[in-house]
Amino acid sequence: MWFEQIAKKNLLIYDDNLEALRQVPSESVDLIYLDPPFFSGRDYNVIWGDTGEVRSFQDRWAGGSEKTAVEVYIAWMEERVQEMHRVLKETGSFYLHCDWHASHYLKVMCDRIFGYNNFRNEIVWHYPSMSAAKYSFPRKHDVILFYARSENCHFNADEVRIPYEESTLGRVSSDGLLKDGYFKGRKNPGALNKNGKIADSVWRIPHISSQQERIGYPTQKPLALLERIIKASSNEGDIVLDPFVGGGTTCLAAEKLGRKFIGIDQSIAAIKVTEGRIEDLHNSDKLFAEWRECETLGLPYSFAELNEMNPFEYETFIVKAFGGEPNKKQIGDGGLDGMKDGVPIQVKQSERVGRNVVDNFSAALRRVKKTKGTIIAFSFTRGAHNEAARLQNEGEFEIDLIAANTVVSINRRPKVSIGEMTVSEDKKWILIRAHAVDPEQNKITVWNWYVEGRLKDTDVVCQRKVKNRDPAYSEFELRYDRPVKVRATATDDFGMTGWSEKKIGLDDAYRSPSVARVN
Ligand SMILES: C[S@@+](CC[C@H](N)C(=O)[O-])C[C@H]1O[C@@H](n2cnc3c(N)ncnc32)[C@H](O)[C@@H]1O
Repeated sequence: MWFEQIAKKNLLIYDDNLEALRQVPSESVDLIYLDPPFFSGRDYNVIWGDTGEVRSFQDRWAGGSEKTAVEVYIAWMEERVQEMHRVLKETGSFYLHCDWHASHYLKVMCDRIFGYNNFRNEIVWHYPSMSAAKYSFPRKHDVILFYARSENCHFNADEVRIPYEESTLGRVSSDGLLKDGYFKGRKNPGALNKNGKIADSVWRIPHISSQQERIGYPTQKPLALLERIIKASSNEGDIVLDPFVGGGTTCLAAEKLGRKFIGIDQSIAAIKVTEGRIEDLHNSDKLFAEWRECETLGLPYSFAELNEMNPFEYETFIVKAFGGEPNKKQIGDGGLDGMKDGVPIQVKQSERVGRNVVDNFSAALRRVKKTKGTIIAFSFTRGAHNEAARLQNEGEFEIDLIAANTVVSINRRPKVSIGEMTVSEDKKWILIRAHAVDPEQNKITVWNWYVEGRLKDTDVVCQRKVKNRDPAYSEFELRYDRPVKVRATATDDFGMTGWSEKKIGLDDAYRSPSVARVN
């Protein structure tokens, strides 16, 4: 189980947080901060635009006609917050970041789950900035609902002291005592604390404090905000969990403060951005030679990586992923690689597995006196399916043919081709089009293209980066009079990269059947 790895590594999990949270043991986490997509318009909520995030967005809004949109949103949140409550330690804390859209509905929901008495604060994060609002007061704050898991919840008040107001300091004499002997109506409160006052529930923290911190998407939260939460409600070595990790601000703050972290997100882009920020932190701050390793789990396997795996390792991996028990004996196993509920399994690390494999497997079943069996392979031929059907019709064997990508998530490289070319009227440049096809039909939402032309192996004469949504198609111009070696590379939502290379000159363009002229 992945959670056990948190003892050794920080973890980033690519998954729907509901699924991931279900795998976290009860009462095992010290602090949870979550900044879920708000109950607001589509544009603001879809940040990354990739497959995982869009799927989650649709879940959140897919309500039956009898439910209002806000009820659907709260029901979506509630089953997740129930899990978060379960995984928090008795001493743990929970911070839910929201805004005016649904904070009142969320408060009622959290009171139900955590208990009204465990509510600690409604923190107002106030972020001053320019505003053009004409018909209401400008909205300049978010709300963070802070709940304790129980009355034994840790709170480090001394860790979150901030400077006193100027007006208070003006009343202090050189010995640190208040000059007038009064403080908030009480006589002689003694010296002020040299570390400042404990922060109250209104936090004035600028949005993002530096260009260096800014990663360029609208919902990024400032590090200073997360640092305050983590310092107040956890200690070094504690586990901090963010189930909507986004750009990874919580993970970054936790790592800087010596806490362990688990970040979950359903968007590959979010996971990749977070990985990058953690890596940059490790590279930039050599003082922390002992940074904890961070591992990302749940990303799909690439077809190439599975295909190249050691065959015995692959068999064991697939049988386990299928929920079976692998054979101890790997050589001379009689064609059987494992067993699930008494049914033998055979694993083939190949594509287009044919009729002969099904026949041989039925012979192996006969030897062990079994009538049911399962073969798992990348793909099967029609002959294999027909043979399995024939054996079943004859009442002899029931053999299931299972595609490996239904057992583990597999991604193949996109197939890229450099296709049509169009020559300009003055014959000075060529317009080239490249096209990518996703063999897994994953409904890829963003393709990252990189096109490069080289004269020799080293001289880059043109290059271009583009993001394309639909269709997976890129156009680029080649302005060069000598033949150039063009390489078009497309990377899909899952980080799988495919490419195609072609040497192209004006003559080739004229030979291309799709050639046309442009002005
Ligand atoms: C508002 S952003 C979080 C921003 C983050 N606090 C930061 O400072 O960078 C919300 C994130 O939740 C993710 N998300 C939405 N639904 C999810 C789900 N069901 N499981 C996991 N992540 C989800 C989105 O992909 C998005 O990255």
